Amino acid sequence: MKGVIIAEMVRWIEQAFSPAIADAVIVRSNLPGDGVYTTVGNYPHTDALAMLGALSEISSKPVAVLADSYGFWLASRFMEIYPEMFEGYTDAVTFLRDVDGQHHREVTKLYPDARTPSIVVVIDGEELTVSYGSHRPLADVAHGLVRGYIDYFGDDLEVVRDQGSPGPHAARFLVRKPAPQSSG
Ligand code: HEM
Repeated sequence: MKGVIIAEMVRWIEQAFSPAIADAVIVRSNLPGDGVYTTVGNYPHTDALAMLGALSEISSKPVAVLADSYGFWLASRFMEIYPEMFEGYTDAVTFLRDVDGQHHREVTKLYPDARTPSIVVVIDGEELTVSYGSHRPLADVAHGLVRGYIDYFGDDLEVVRDQGSPGPHAARFLVRKPAPQSSG
Protein backbone atom coordinates (compact mmCIF):
# COMPACT_ATOMS: atom_id res chain seq x y z
CA MET A 1 0.00 0.00 0.00
CA LYS A 2 1.23 3.51 -0.77
CA GLY A 3 3.19 5.08 2.05
CA VAL A 4 0.92 8.12 2.02
CA ILE A 5 -1.91 6.10 3.62
CA ILE A 6 0.34 4.77 6.40
CA ALA A 7 2.34 7.99 6.94
CA GLU A 8 -0.92 9.90 7.28
CA MET A 9 -2.13 7.36 9.82
CA VAL A 10 0.87 8.24 12.00
CA ARG A 11 0.05 11.93 11.58
CA TRP A 12 -3.60 11.28 12.48
CA ILE A 13 -2.61 9.44 15.68
CA GLU A 14 -0.30 12.34 16.62
CA GLN A 15 -3.08 14.87 16.10
CA ALA A 16 -6.12 12.95 17.35
CA PHE A 17 -4.30 11.37 20.30
CA SER A 18 -0.75 12.64 20.92
CA PRO A 19 2.81 12.34 19.59
CA ALA A 20 3.64 10.14 22.60
CA ILE A 21 0.79 7.75 21.75
CA ALA A 22 1.93 7.65 18.11
CA ASP A 23 5.41 6.64 19.33
CA ALA A 24 3.92 4.01 21.62
CA VAL A 25 1.81 2.62 18.75
CA ILE A 26 4.87 2.35 16.49
CA VAL A 27 6.89 0.54 19.17
CA ARG A 28 4.02 -1.81 20.02
CA SER A 29 3.31 -2.59 16.34
CA ASN A 30 6.85 -3.88 15.85
CA LEU A 31 7.05 -2.41 12.35
CA PRO A 32 9.96 -3.40 10.11
CA GLY A 33 10.85 0.21 9.23
CA ASP A 34 10.30 1.68 12.72
CA GLY A 35 7.34 3.74 11.50
CA VAL A 36 9.24 5.66 8.83
CA TYR A 37 7.23 5.86 5.60
CA THR A 38 7.74 7.86 2.42
CA THR A 39 4.66 8.94 0.46
CA VAL A 40 5.75 7.20 -2.72
CA GLY A 41 7.09 4.01 -1.12
CA ASN A 42 5.08 0.81 -1.06
CA TYR A 43 4.55 -1.05 2.19
CA PRO A 44 2.45 -3.98 3.39
CA HIS A 45 -1.03 -2.84 4.37
CA THR A 46 -0.58 -5.10 7.39
CA ASP A 47 1.58 -2.30 8.86
CA ALA A 48 -1.52 -0.10 8.97
CA LEU A 49 -3.56 -2.94 10.47
CA ALA A 50 -0.87 -3.51 13.11
CA MET A 51 -0.96 0.18 14.04
CA LEU A 52 -4.75 0.17 14.33
CA GLY A 53 -4.53 -2.95 16.53
CA ALA A 54 -1.92 -1.38 18.79
CA LEU A 55 -3.89 1.87 19.02
CA SER A 56 -6.98 -0.12 19.93
CA GLU A 57 -5.12 -1.79 22.81
CA ILE A 58 -3.75 1.53 24.04
CA SER A 59 -6.98 3.53 23.65
CA SER A 60 -9.48 0.73 24.46
CA LYS A 61 -11.47 1.71 21.37
CA PRO A 62 -12.54 -0.91 18.80
CA VAL A 63 -10.41 -1.17 15.65
CA ALA A 64 -13.49 -0.55 13.47
CA VAL A 65 -14.24 2.75 15.24
CA LEU A 66 -10.62 3.86 14.92
CA ALA A 67 -10.41 2.93 11.22
CA ASP A 68 -13.63 4.85 10.54
CA SER A 69 -12.30 7.92 12.40
CA TYR A 70 -9.07 7.73 10.45
CA GLY A 71 -11.00 7.66 7.15
CA PHE A 72 -13.03 10.70 8.21
CA TRP A 73 -9.86 12.62 9.03
CA LEU A 74 -8.10 11.41 5.85
CA ALA A 75 -10.87 12.86 3.67
CA SER A 76 -9.83 16.41 4.57
CA ARG A 77 -6.13 15.56 4.43
CA PHE A 78 -6.53 14.36 0.83
CA MET A 79 -7.86 17.84 0.02
CA GLU A 80 -4.64 19.36 1.35
CA ILE A 81 -2.37 16.84 -0.36
CA TYR A 82 -4.20 16.58 -3.71
CA PRO A 83 -6.10 19.90 -4.08
CA GLU A 84 -6.28 19.58 -7.88
CA MET A 85 -8.54 16.53 -7.54
CA PHE A 86 -11.17 18.66 -5.81
CA GLU A 87 -11.32 21.51 -8.31
CA GLY A 88 -14.79 22.12 -9.69
CA TYR A 89 -16.64 19.93 -7.17
CA THR A 90 -19.34 21.51 -5.05
CA ASP A 91 -21.28 18.49 -3.79
CA ALA A 92 -20.50 15.12 -2.29
CA VAL A 93 -22.63 13.05 -4.67
CA THR A 94 -20.82 14.24 -7.80
CA PHE A 95 -17.48 13.92 -6.05
CA LEU A 96 -18.13 10.36 -4.85
CA ARG A 97 -19.50 9.37 -8.28
CA ASP A 98 -16.11 10.24 -9.79
CA VAL A 99 -13.80 8.40 -7.38
CA ASP A 100 -13.29 5.30 -9.54
CA GLY A 101 -13.27 7.01 -12.92
CA GLN A 102 -11.34 10.14 -11.96
CA HIS A 103 -9.70 10.43 -8.54
CA HIS A 104 -8.34 6.93 -8.09
CA ARG A 105 -7.37 6.98 -11.77
CA GLU A 106 -5.33 10.13 -11.11
CA VAL A 107 -3.77 8.33 -8.14
CA THR A 108 -2.56 5.52 -10.40
CA LYS A 109 -1.04 8.11 -12.74
CA LEU A 110 0.82 9.67 -9.81
CA TYR A 111 1.85 6.30 -8.42
CA PRO A 112 1.86 3.65 -11.17
CA ASP A 113 2.30 0.87 -8.59
CA ALA A 114 -0.79 1.92 -6.60
CA ARG A 115 -3.62 -0.60 -6.35
CA THR A 116 -6.63 1.46 -5.46
CA PRO A 117 -9.83 -0.23 -4.28
CA SER A 118 -12.91 -0.43 -6.48
CA ILE A 119 -15.49 2.22 -5.56
CA VAL A 120 -18.65 1.62 -7.59
CA VAL A 121 -21.35 4.25 -7.28
CA VAL A 122 -24.96 3.82 -8.38
CA ILE A 123 -27.27 6.83 -8.31
CA ASP A 124 -30.98 6.09 -7.97
CA GLY A 125 -33.06 9.27 -7.75
CA GLU A 126 -31.86 11.05 -4.62
CA GLU A 127 -30.09 7.99 -3.23
CA LEU A 128 -26.57 6.87 -3.85
CA THR A 129 -25.07 3.46 -3.22
CA VAL A 130 -21.29 3.39 -2.80
CA SER A 131 -19.80 -0.10 -3.01
CA TYR A 132 -16.26 -0.71 -1.81
CA GLY A 133 -14.25 -3.74 -2.80
CA SER A 134 -10.57 -4.47 -2.19
CA HIS A 135 -8.05 -7.19 -1.52
CA ARG A 136 -7.36 -5.08 1.58
CA PRO A 137 -9.73 -5.24 4.55
CA LEU A 138 -10.30 -1.50 4.88
CA ALA A 139 -14.08 -1.10 4.57
CA ASP A 140 -14.19 0.91 7.80
CA VAL A 141 -11.69 3.41 6.39
CA ALA A 142 -13.89 3.68 3.28
CA HIS A 143 -16.91 4.36 5.50
CA GLY A 144 -15.03 7.18 7.21
CA LEU A 145 -13.95 8.65 3.87
CA VAL A 146 -17.53 8.72 2.60
CA ARG A 147 -18.68 10.40 5.84
CA GLY A 148 -15.76 12.82 5.61
CA TYR A 149 -16.62 14.03 2.11
CA ILE A 150 -20.29 14.52 2.96
CA ASP A 151 -19.19 16.56 5.96
CA TYR A 152 -16.73 18.56 3.86
CA PHE A 153 -19.28 19.49 1.20
CA GLY A 154 -21.82 20.23 3.93
CA ASP A 155 -24.56 18.19 2.27
CA ASP A 156 -27.57 17.14 4.30
CA LEU A 157 -27.03 13.42 3.75
CA GLU A 158 -26.63 10.41 5.99
CA VAL A 159 -24.54 7.30 5.39
CA VAL A 160 -26.03 3.96 6.32
CA ARG A 161 -23.89 0.86 6.03
CA ASP A 162 -25.69 -2.11 4.52
CA GLN A 163 -25.33 -4.70 7.27
CA GLY A 164 -25.87 -7.45 4.69
CA SER A 165 -22.67 -6.63 2.82
CA PRO A 166 -19.69 -8.78 3.64
CA GLY A 167 -16.86 -6.91 5.37
CA PRO A 168 -14.09 -6.03 5.76
CA HIS A 169 -12.99 -6.50 2.12
CA ALA A 170 -16.31 -5.27 0.75
CA ALA A 171 -19.06 -3.00 1.94
CA ARG A 172 -22.06 -1.09 0.63
CA PHE A 173 -22.95 2.35 1.87
CA LEU A 174 -26.31 3.95 1.24
CA VAL A 175 -26.09 7.74 1.06
CA ARG A 176 -29.47 9.46 1.39
CA LYS A 177 -31.40 12.38 2.78
CA PRO A 178 -32.10 11.87 6.48
CA ALA A 179 -35.73 11.00 7.26
CA PRO A 180 -37.60 14.11 8.46
CA GLN A 181 -37.79 14.35 12.26
CA SER A 182 -41.33 13.92 13.56
CA SER A 183 -42.43 16.93 15.55
CA GLY A 184 -44.65 14.96 17.94
C1 HEM B 1 -9.69 12.64 -4.21
C2 HEM B 1 -10.05 11.67 -3.37
C3 HEM B 1 -9.21 10.47 -3.13
C4 HEM B 1 -7.85 10.33 -3.22
C5 HEM B 1 -6.83 11.36 -3.60
C6 HEM B 1 -7.55 8.95 -2.88
C7 HEM B 1 -6.27 8.44 -2.84
C8 HEM B 1 -5.93 7.16 -2.48
C9 HEM B 1 -4.60 6.62 -2.44
C10 HEM B 1 -3.31 7.38 -2.78
C11 HEM B 1 -4.69 5.34 -2.03
C12 HEM B 1 -3.53 4.33 -1.86
C13 HEM B 1 -3.54 3.31 -2.96
C14 HEM B 1 -2.46 2.24 -2.78
O1 HEM B 1 -1.93 2.13 -1.70
O2 HEM B 1 -2.12 1.50 -3.71
C15 HEM B 1 -6.09 5.09 -1.76
C16 HEM B 1 -6.58 3.94 -1.24
C17 HEM B 1 -7.83 3.84 -0.71
N1 HEM B 1 -8.93 4.60 -1.07
FE1 HEM B 1 -8.85 6.37 -2.00
N2 HEM B 1 -8.70 8.29 -2.57
C18 HEM B 1 -9.74 9.18 -2.70
C19 HEM B 1 -11.08 8.93 -2.49
C20 HEM B 1 -11.55 7.82 -1.86
C21 HEM B 1 -12.91 7.63 -1.43
C22 HEM B 1 -14.05 8.64 -1.55
C23 HEM B 1 -12.97 6.41 -0.86
C24 HEM B 1 -14.14 5.72 -0.24
C25 HEM B 1 -15.29 5.60 -0.83
C26 HEM B 1 -11.64 5.82 -0.93
C27 HEM B 1 -11.28 4.62 -0.40
C28 HEM B 1 -9.99 4.14 -0.32
C29 HEM B 1 -9.57 3.06 0.55
C30 HEM B 1 -10.44 2.35 1.57
C31 HEM B 1 -8.20 2.86 0.31
C32 HEM B 1 -7.24 1.89 1.01
C33 HEM B 1 -6.74 0.79 0.15
C34 HEM B 1 -7.75 -0.32 -0.04
O3 HEM B 1 -8.73 -0.43 0.72
O4 HEM B 1 -7.55 -1.14 -0.97
N3 HEM B 1 -10.81 6.71 -1.56
N4 HEM B 1 -6.82 6.20 -2.07
